[in-house]
Amino acid sequence: MNKSKIRELYNQKIKLIKKFNKFYYDKNKSIISDGKYDELKKEIIFLESKYNFLKSKSSPSENVGYKPSKNFKKLPHKAPMLSLANAFTEEDLINFEKKIFNFLSLEHDHQILYSAEPKIDGISASITYKNSQLFKGLSRGDGKEGEDITMNLATINDIPKKILSKDFPEEIDIRGEVFITNSDFVNLREKFANPRNAASGSLRQKNPNDTKKIPLKFIAYAYGFEKGLKIEKQSDFLKKLSEWGFKTNPLNKSISGIKNLFKNYNEIEKKRANLDFDIDGIVYKVNDFATQKRLGNVANAPRWAIAHKFSSNKAISKILEIEIQVGRTGALTPVAKIKPINIGGVVVSNATLHNEDEINRKDIRVGDTAVIERAGDVIPHILSIDTKKRLKNSKKFIFPENCPSCGSKTIKEFNKITKKVDAVRRCSSEDYYCDKISIEKLKHFVSKEAFNIDGFGKKIVENFWKLKFIKYPQDIFKLDYSKIEKLDGWGQLSVKNLIYSINQKKNISLERLIYSLGIRHIGLENAKLLSKHFTSFSKFKNLSVQSDYEDLLNIDGIGETQVNSIKSFFSNKTNIRVLNELEKVLVVKNAIQNSDDGLLKNKTFLVTGKLNGISRAELKSLIEENSGKIVSGVSKKLNYLIIGDKPTKKKIENAKQLRINVIDQAEFMRMLNKTS
Ligand code: IVH
Repeated sequence: MNKSKIRELYNQKIKLIKKFNKFYYDKNKSIISDGKYDELKKEIIFLESKYNFLKSKSSPSENVGYKPSKNFKKLPHKAPMLSLANAFTEEDLINFEKKIFNFLSLEHDHQILYSAEPKIDGISASITYKNSQLFKGLSRGDGKEGEDITMNLATINDIPKKILSKDFPEEIDIRGEVFITNSDFVNLREKFANPRNAASGSLRQKNPNDTKKIPLKFIAYAYGFEKGLKIEKQSDFLKKLSEWGFKTNPLNKSISGIKNLFKNYNEIEKKRANLDFDIDGIVYKVNDFATQKRLGNVANAPRWAIAHKFSSNKAISKILEIEIQVGRTGALTPVAKIKPINIGGVVVSNATLHNEDEINRKDIRVGDTAVIERAGDVIPHILSIDTKKRLKNSKKFIFPENCPSCGSKTIKEFNKITKKVDAVRRCSSEDYYCDKISIEKLKHFVSKEAFNIDGFGKKIVENFWKLKFIKYPQDIFKLDYSKIEKLDGWGQLSVKNLIYSINQKKNISLERLIYSLGIRHIGLENAKLLSKHFTSFSKFKNLSVQSDYEDLLNIDGIGETQVNSIKSFFSNKTNIRVLNELEKVLVVKNAIQNSDDGLLKNKTFLVTGKLNGISRAELKSLIEENSGKIVSGVSKKLNYLIIGDKPTKKKIENAKQLRINVIDQAEFMRMLNKTS
């Protein structure tokens, strides 16, 4: 990579971290998981260490936190509020200690004593006392300047306003973490993603009376500037803090030796789910203050301390219950209800157990202690079970034989292709007999790729179902709005908006309608193929009388599985009724049939780079409408490679080697007798 490319990459990452910081510090909102944020931070620091020409004022290496918000007055910290380096592995910890040994030229057999303090995941604050009185309270801000949040901090009961002890220093700023307990967070769950966001939001309210309403807590763990502190060790300082009336972390310990730090880390990680406050790691500090002073700081973090972080995508918790959920296609999915645990900034209380086989294979039971993983956008799942922690009276989980919603028999289908019995157990009832299936079908009907009715989400489906406003898709178009207007949370305006969005969607394309019906095995692509085949709603509906199912097998992309599913859909009287009723209320646009004999007949295309004024999806349908095909890669099967802006060079090279026609957008348009 050349210099300008590296700089471009670096600037992109800086731009991204600036955006995340802005959301987090100004709007109290995380729009990225903690793990991803740490990764980004690491990437930026790595790039800076590799290429010394990279520098930015907004780099995490220059900044601690973010600029103070405009809502509060800015004030300088008398001693900067530093950040901590992170350790994720045993190796990181060994390196941390090695650096200390080197820096201080310590003998091999020297033992460093650390204060090991569980790292509460809240908001740090610095509280200055002068002559035993609370004088000022600041947020961390950018580490150099904080926000004056004295009035808000003063509302917290854990923060003493006056300290009477004789040995309390003449001046000191006590540092610690403001947080919300998990039990108090339960009431705030609707408003915030996790307790930390809740604490941050409450602490930075403009009006201290609003802060007072939230049960914020404070735990003290450090000091900044001091005058008259006569303590030499962190462990003694922690003891003193509690004598002076501050709360300290009950799990703080003094430990030496990396192995013992690890042991403590593992023990605490297991206890995490049972604690009433979120911790995201353990902070290790060299216990002796004089040694801390000798070690000093690197950039904005001390050499004498490190945060040993817990994994941002795994955590240990307890299975409270195993619930069987019934999906739109009748699939019975077991879900573990777990003791809520914060995994990388998201409070997780459910984990999928996939299916019956998975439960049996891992012998997962109610009451078990489990490792839960939450990676990316994937639904959290159980990685492993700690059978050693299993209670003696625990019982094997028996998967129900009948549907928990409607009581119908459940079946495991035989898959003709894999020649295996399906791992998924399904409710065998017919469409709309089982309540749970019906609700899920309605949710699918209004979903984004289907009818996409603005403001008609899953919650509303459930609510309207409970109130018996809807049972079948057609009911959505026949709602009694005067009843809705009287419901809690609804008013004239919201009902007006709802009427508008529903009416707007009465005009629908045939492919969306087919997809919305939620016929098993008919996803977006298949719905498109079927709509092209039938072209009109009436022809599609006619299938129920004509029973010309064999003909469907001629559609490229539709197989026996899909045909059988369509057959079973049309064999159900309720489905026919739904179609008839929908026909009465909807205006279904006919599909344009792709010609088999278009200008691009027997020609395949691939695009690289960005085209001008036409999206990839539009181009795809343009090619298909003219009997051409899009392929996924450069191969002998490709006839034309269309080049747009910033194409992938490798693709062009490969195409040229294979003597494939390389054309630009204008040339492609000319093939269609169009000028772009
Ligand atoms: S000491 C230079 N001790 O971790 C020392 N920090 O990234 C820095 N934190 O913003 C602070 N528990 O909010 C320290 N026992 C503890 C802590 C702790 C949580 C937070 C603090 C700080 C962050 C460091």
